[in-house]
Amino acid sequence: MFVFTVNNQICSTDKDVRLIDYLRKDLGLTGTKEGCGSGACGTCTVIVDGRKARACVPKTSSLAGKSVLTIEGLSDREKAVYSYAFAEAGAVQCGFCMPGMVMSAKCLLDTNPDPTRGDVVKAINGNICRCTGYAKIETAILMAAGLFRENAPVPDISKAAGVGDSLHRVDAAEKVCGTGLFADDFTVPGMIYAKALRSTYPRARVDRINIEKALAHPDCVTVLTAADVPFNKTGHIVKDWDVLIAEGDVTRYIGDAIVLAASLYEESLDEILALVEVEYTVLDPVTNPTAALAENAPKLHPNGNILTHEYVDRGDADQAIAEAAFAVTTHYSTPQTDHAFMEPECAVAIPKAFGAGSAAKGDPEEPALTVYTASQSVYDEQREIAAMLKIPNGSIRCRSVLVGGGFGGKEDMSVQHHAALMAWKTGRPVKVKFSRQESLNVHVKRHAMEIDITTACDAKGNITATKVLLISDCGAYASLGGPVLQRACTHAGGPYHFDNFKADGYCVYTNNVPGGAFRGFGVTQSCFAQEMNITLLAEKAGIDPWEFRRMNAIRPGESLPNGQIASEETAFVECLDAVKESYRSSPFAGIAGCLKNSGLGVGLPDFGRTTLKIKDGIVHVRTSAADMGQGIGTVAVQIVCETAGIAADRVIREAPDTFLTPNSGTTTASRQTLFCGEATKKAALLLKEALLAKSLGELDGEEFYGEYSGVTDPMRSGKEHPVSHVAYGYGAQVVIMDESKKIIQAVAAHDVGRAVNPKLCEGQIEGGVTMGLGFALTENFITENGYVKSTYNTLGLLRSTDVPPIEVILIGKAGKEGLAYGAKGIGEISSVAAAPAAAAAAYRVDGVARTRLPLENTAYKPNR
Ligand code: FES
Ligand code: FES
Repeated sequence: MFVFTVNNQICSTDKDVRLIDYLRKDLGLTGTKEGCGSGACGTCTVIVDGRKARACVPKTSSLAGKSVLTIEGLSDREKAVYSYAFAEAGAVQCGFCMPGMVMSAKCLLDTNPDPTRGDVVKAINGNICRCTGYAKIETAILMAAGLFRENAPVPDISKAAGVGDSLHRVDAAEKVCGTGLFADDFTVPGMIYAKALRSTYPRARVDRINIEKALAHPDCVTVLTAADVPFNKTGHIVKDWDVLIAEGDVTRYIGDAIVLAASLYEESLDEILALVEVEYTVLDPVTNPTAALAENAPKLHPNGNILTHEYVDRGDADQAIAEAAFAVTTHYSTPQTDHAFMEPECAVAIPKAFGAGSAAKGDPEEPALTVYTASQSVYDEQREIAAMLKIPNGSIRCRSVLVGGGFGGKEDMSVQHHAALMAWKTGRPVKVKFSRQESLNVHVKRHAMEIDITTACDAKGNITATKVLLISDCGAYASLGGPVLQRACTHAGGPYHFDNFKADGYCVYTNNVPGGAFRGFGVTQSCFAQEMNITLLAEKAGIDPWEFRRMNAIRPGESLPNGQIASEETAFVECLDAVKESYRSSPFAGIAGCLKNSGLGVGLPDFGRTTLKIKDGIVHVRTSAADMGQGIGTVAVQIVCETAGIAADRVIREAPDTFLTPNSGTTTASRQTLFCGEATKKAALLLKEALLAKSLGELDGEEFYGEYSGVTDPMRSGKEHPVSHVAYGYGAQVVIMDESKKIIQAVAAHDVGRAVNPKLCEGQIEGGVTMGLGFALTENFITENGYVKSTYNTLGLLRSTDVPPIEVILIGKAGKEGLAYGAKGIGEISSVAAAPAAAAAAYRVDGVARTRLPLENTAYKPNR
């Protein structure tokens, strides 16, 4: 028996298990989160005998006689101070890292009540935050330190909740104190656990699967094979991704699921899976697009190895290049990288008999299956699961809990469909949860791309043409490879004004881990190539790179390389002007510009929808727009407050739920602030009108619905000036290095239109720049011959001590009358320009034009 205390309560157990499992499963203390399970991320930080410890490392046997403190054990005063400080500083995004951060902060402040920022940076160096860029967390900890030192009361929170106010996030306290529920915090009586056996080889024929021994395991509930799946394919756009690989079929990557086993206990899942016998005929994997395009390459999918060919052709790029005074032609390579969202995937599916959907009075009748998930679109999940089970969409209810980061990596099916399948087959509640390594091995990555690009200008330095060839490694399945490649192509011209633009792209299937949506959506890759080329072209033309960009910058009324006329509020020039001084301040400053669409555009259905339901004098904001940390929930509340003139404490944002919240499309393409924001505004205008006649209380039970649909032209519409997207954001970033090529400052000026919540907007940019710098300097997802070599600890994620000061400058010319009060998306574009700016800075230090990411020969160790 091991006896120790947890939060001052004596605990005894005879189970020798990891502390985190004992806390979460035996004691129900789910505030301690598991991000990596290998001691690398710090999300599980607790305090043991006054010292910081990672709860995923020690076993209960090592804790005898010790005292453990978790986030739940903090005093009410501590919880109030940290909640206030983290919200006030704008430090909270997805929140998954927050309890661990708070415990690291407590450890520091208990021994050093008056720390410097440098002390704080060191103290949280073991805690990874993938969302924020750390600066606001550091500010929050310093703010908390001040309140504790002075024994000051927690200040009143500002009630200002209109557009332009930095309202505290509506979910800040529950994230900071660890009381908010993520999917893995859910347990249901009678719940069983399921896990897939993954392929041993990237490419192999599955000759025989024998599940008999696994079925005989005493804990085994059942083992499902492809024969048990009504429709065995998923895929939002192309249905090419097998739910389970059938006997006789060929695997396409190391993450392919062969069987799905269910156990009474999570702990015995691996034992059961080890009893499944699979006979393979091993085949040579195809691990790069060049090999996949070879004439004699095996066909990885029935239609061959090219998923899509995308192109843009405007003017005559070849002729303009031939006639140009200067031209630069370069080949660039960008690697696969992992989203590394802090919360690994998890879903819980619950059959109707268990009543977990718990419809409230007046809500629709309970469906056959309710699935609790943490994804980027509950409606995409509902559609995919219903198609897989061959049942109507309405038989499935998908409900979102807190989402611990996504960045594009939680758009595809990963665990949701497996949880639903097992619950459907067994009639029992089922949890499917990825370990961190399973998450790395299975979910999509940023596409690796090979890019050949020529950029040309006349003798005065006016860009005349660009020509681009992009080869994107699709990996094993389509996922969003087509649209990602399309955005890489359409944005390859950059935020400049010229008319001869040719881009050709091919997305090519291989046996690598699939590529998919990732913050920046292909533009991160093509922007790196174009912006570095422009730096080299400016030099060739004898013009300063900042000046060169300003000369060529897109201005209102001019046409972008794709032909779209830039709107009146276009503010790229203002972004460049805002970073001029920083750029001029150092001989080792690099600069890059960028643009990024808000919304799907290109003629696709693109809508935002919101319902405001009045209950007991409170406005419930119902929309399926997922909040993965970026803050759409808070933004929607502010738009209601601004429009209808209601106080924030009268407004509640409900979680996405296919039975209650209207379909607002996927949280992708930096679209929700604009699309869901405009829909919310429209609904709130109706509410405002109703409030002229009645009070909120008198409107009880009434609903107000708003919808916004963005109308755009399809690709290759034939129009001279198509409207490809309803809005574009613009940005200019400067990275300054010292002589050792260490980054000492980053400056990011972004045209955000109008910032609904400036602090949240700043936080998005700080986080985006940090992610962009990781892409530039260190990050790489490494596979060898189709086998994954990367672990969470070796992804190359930047820690607090690696991140330079980041100055954020919000630019916007939008008026209040614009869509969603003139707001544009900021989620993606913030991560786009950092890599070329860093490459340009390194070039200024040593004159070496780096064309491959992560950059080599800087002060950082690139992950190779
Ligand atoms: S360090 Fe424990 S979960 Fe990552
Ligand atoms: S807020 Fe830190 S990981 Fe999301």
